[in-house]
Amino acid sequence: MAMMLLQLRLPGGKCGLVSAHVSMHTALRLSSLFLLLSVTFFGRSAAASCQQLHTCSSPTTSVSHPAAVSPSAMTARTCNLIEKMLCPKVRFHGCASSSYSSRSDACPEKIGDVSQLKCAFKLFDADFFPDSKVQEIAEGAVDYNIPIIRANRKSVASVDGGLQNPSPLVFNAKWGNASEQVNIKSRRFDYPSPSGIQRPKNDEDIAFMSVVGLGELIRTGQITSEELTRIFLQRLKRYGDVLQSVVSYTEELAFMQAKEADRLLAEGTYLGPLHGIPYGLKDIIAVPHYRTTWGSKTFKDQVLDIEAWVYKRLKSAGAVLVAKLATGSLAYDDIWFGGRTRNPWNIEEFSTGSSAGPAACTSAGMVPFAIGSETAGSMTYPAARCGVTALRPTFGSVGRTGVMSISESLDKLGPFCRTAADCAIILDAIRGKDPDDLSSRDISLDNPFTVDITKLTVGYLDDAEMEVIEVLKTKGVNMVPFKLNYTVESVQGILNFTMDVDMLAHFDEWQRQGKDAVYEAQDQWPVELRRARMISVVDYVQAQRARGKLIREVREGFEVDAFVGNATDWEKVCLGNLVGIPIIVVPTGFTSISNLPSGGSKRRTTLNTGIYAPPEKDHIALALAMAYQSVTDHHKQRPPIDDLAPDELAPGRESVVYPSRRLHIYPK
Ligand SMILES: *[C@@H]1O[C@H](CO)[C@@H](O)[C@H](O)[C@H]1NC(C)=O
Ligand SMILES: *[C@@H]1O[C@H](CO)[C@@H](O)[C@H](O)[C@H]1NC(C)=O
Ligand SMILES: *[C@@H]1O[C@H](CO)[C@@H](O)[C@H](O)[C@H]1NC(C)=O
Ligand SMILES: *[C@@H]1O[C@H](CO)[C@@H](O)[C@H](O)[C@H]1NC(C)=O
Repeated sequence: MAMMLLQLRLPGGKCGLVSAHVSMHTALRLSSLFLLLSVTFFGRSAAASCQQLHTCSSPTTSVSHPAAVSPSAMTARTCNLIEKMLCPKVRFHGCASSSYSSRSDACPEKIGDVSQLKCAFKLFDADFFPDSKVQEIAEGAVDYNIPIIRANRKSVASVDGGLQNPSPLVFNAKWGNASEQVNIKSRRFDYPSPSGIQRPKNDEDIAFMSVVGLGELIRTGQITSEELTRIFLQRLKRYGDVLQSVVSYTEELAFMQAKEADRLLAEGTYLGPLHGIPYGLKDIIAVPHYRTTWGSKTFKDQVLDIEAWVYKRLKSAGAVLVAKLATGSLAYDDIWFGGRTRNPWNIEEFSTGSSAGPAACTSAGMVPFAIGSETAGSMTYPAARCGVTALRPTFGSVGRTGVMSISESLDKLGPFCRTAADCAIILDAIRGKDPDDLSSRDISLDNPFTVDITKLTVGYLDDAEMEVIEVLKTKGVNMVPFKLNYTVESVQGILNFTMDVDMLAHFDEWQRQGKDAVYEAQDQWPVELRRARMISVVDYVQAQRARGKLIREVREGFEVDAFVGNATDWEKVCLGNLVGIPIIVVPTGFTSISNLPSGGSKRRTTLNTGIYAPPEKDHIALALAMAYQSVTDHHKQRPPIDDLAPDELAPGRESVVYPSRRLHIYPK
């Protein structure tokens, strides 16, 4: 086990230097014992934060003992308690030595000062207690808090991933009041039936058809599901490696499902527009017999014997699963255990994430559609970068049973497609109440195909793509300038608190066992989740109250039927996810890449915009996107993935782009 040096260096030697040599495992175990002690285990960030603290005043001491951070003034009783809890359970360096194991009177001479504990309180912004109270708190934490913490953890936290034991505190994104009982029937949408669709001559043209078009080829017997499955599996295998976008091919299952679809149709049973259509799932979604890796080295051999609810829905709609697609490790960004997913529009660039595979594979015509997920930006970012149409539906629309959980009040599943109409059809197939997902609901949506958009008033933000405004105006939509005028300043911070604490609850054991040390991108989840240990429960709840206030303010200010604005602006990504509103990302064109090679290039930077709607008004966003796409063809362009120049994957030409996640403070 790796030895590590834990340091809490406080300013000017005033506060004391506490160092202890412990194994990683021990350190992580210890952190569970005493919340306040945890400062030392994350010594580096504690050191940084403590630079700004000023009232610590103890002299420098150096010890190698678990009680190092307990105050000298701490009673012998507390000391004993800590000793009792620590020593038998962990082989702490020096613990068994006579210097400590003997008596409680050994404790005070080994430890610093009550001010060190007070210093720890500063990291919770709670350093207002007098010494005597700090001592009482320490004793109370040992007597009462830790046993409860441990009992709860033991009963629910031994398995990582958040698939079991969801919190019963459920977020409902609906805007309405309890007395308004809507009569919800999960009616299916009526789809317009396309006509005159002919099978293209070559496979590539088939691969870039919409789901609606492919469905029509199948329904009219111009192609079989088995043929389609073969075409898409071929493309997945051809481009999967260069794009690093596929985790597993589910070939055997795919041909079984395709043959079944063909058999049903031959018998005269047609299941609807997804009958026989191949698709991919982000690899945080479980399907039996195949690996569900969550993109992570730690879980790369995991096989979950679970049929995710969304998979069941697609199966019963007749769709054919051809691949499990790349997800950034534990659903963060685009780096996963097998590599880093690339953008088909510019192979030098990465797709962003974490629904990296669904976006890249849809963009490159490797699947007609794919299911991804978003907690904060994981659909909007890669859809924007890879130039595909994606719908992040109202929170609660699509059940999440069998899906790795980051945050029960934020996670959403949604489709990546070639067109908004396809998004509508897929949403229709996967929405509805999942009995095992407490947050999922039957949401009544009107038929997006029959919305009269000339009756809509649609806002546009300063950062909306102007072409979209112009096009929608010509389609008869009343377009008005719009602003989101909420006062809550900490939107991005609320997102971090909610997402990080919830995630840590689902990966508590993983962190305690030091598995974050092999995480694929050390500056991402590992740092964020260690920091999350230091968020007090009170402040987590305050964050939820601030979120409630944000939701009320957004609701009051939402005086339009929908609005158009930047889909990837981080503040809006956080806001949209905290409030639970739907957005559809729509490709709106291209610009030339920066760093253009001298010989020119077919690579492009994609442009896009977001259409946002109130909760349960997904049909409005869909209808507007369909109207826009009915007269534009940006969404029909094909990326130059087939056409790579020999040096286009040359190392050293990579430009790494992370979403910016800075705190935006609004002017007062
Ligand atoms: C809730 O809905 C009912 C029925 O529509 C309405 O009478 C009542 O004023 C609403 N209450 C609030 C607080 O909006
Ligand atoms: C936002 O603006 C609307 C009208 O313009 C107003 O009713 C609402 O109170 C405003 N909200 C905030 C939080 O300022
Ligand atoms: C949220 O966490 C990310 C990742 O650690 C960080 O970059 C960002 O600054 C944080 N945002 C706020 C508002 O603290
Ligand atoms: C949208 O936001 C992203 C991220 O902040 C930014 O890079 C981009 O330029 C914005 N687009 C527009 C049209 O303002």
